[in-house]
Amino acid sequence: MPLVIKDEYPEKLFREDGKRLDGRDKTELRPIKMEVGVINNADGSAYLEWGNNKVFAAVYGPREVHPHHLAKPDRGILRVFYRMTTFSVFERKRPAPGRREKEISMVIGDCLEPVLFLELYPGTSFEVFIEVIDADGGTRCASTTVAALALADAGIPMKSLVTSLAVGKIDGELVIDLSGIEDKAGEADLPCAITWYNDELSLLQFDGDMTLEEMNTSMDSAVEALKEIYEKQLTALKSKYIAIQEETLKQQESKTDGGEE
Ligand code: CDP
Repeated sequence: MPLVIKDEYPEKLFREDGKRLDGRDKTELRPIKMEVGVINNADGSAYLEWGNNKVFAAVYGPREVHPHHLAKPDRGILRVFYRMTTFSVFERKRPAPGRREKEISMVIGDCLEPVLFLELYPGTSFEVFIEVIDADGGTRCASTTVAALALADAGIPMKSLVTSLAVGKIDGELVIDLSGIEDKAGEADLPCAITWYNDELSLLQFDGDMTLEEMNTSMDSAVEALKEIYEKQLTALKSKYIAIQEETLKQQESKTDGGEE
């Protein structure tokens, strides 16, 4: 059964004024907010709000592998668990992980693995738990982006961050950062991810119709937008340490003041 009945899609994905239904231009990202260190019990964590998407990522590792038979004697393994809460989508999602969640977990793992030094951690695992609390298109990209931040927050050595975004085509026009309705009612959806240490794509999926030329143009706009998101990831990471620094300075000052009395 389709998630949304086709008849329920709007006839047009652009308004009279040329803007998209949510008021964006073709090359405009949805609003993005990120924060790291949001889960006390994880080794590293991050939270991302991207348009109407809300996603948490928690990272553990390196730690012992359970079940043991999954361990590799010559390298560590990365395990990703992408899950959507039952209330994250319009039609209640069944709580058990479905085929889609397993596939997206695998895809996210493939995006992130190139930036890790797994060969330095034989016999151990790194685990990334992703919870999509609210979903509105592009959750695999949002999840990859927030998971990379959580790995960095855990202090795990990485070659670089990874940033992900979906571009595509709606009503014959190329756009970036598709919303849920654009993803479903549009003509093409092209999620991609970049590993910044070598500027290579670690994800490129494609669903729909597009000419090769349109694909090239889409990839150019994707790279521009990915750079914008990457800056936000860096700011989120730095903000944590700026806050720690400010707190430490405050404590030192109050100690000094106390000592002088
Ligand atoms: O989220 P992403 O675009 O990476 O993956 P998708 O499988 O193309 O799903 C597109 C959107 O469909 C999701 O972001 C959700 O908003 C929605 N969806 C849903 O409503 N119910 C589901 N069981 C799965 C997805």
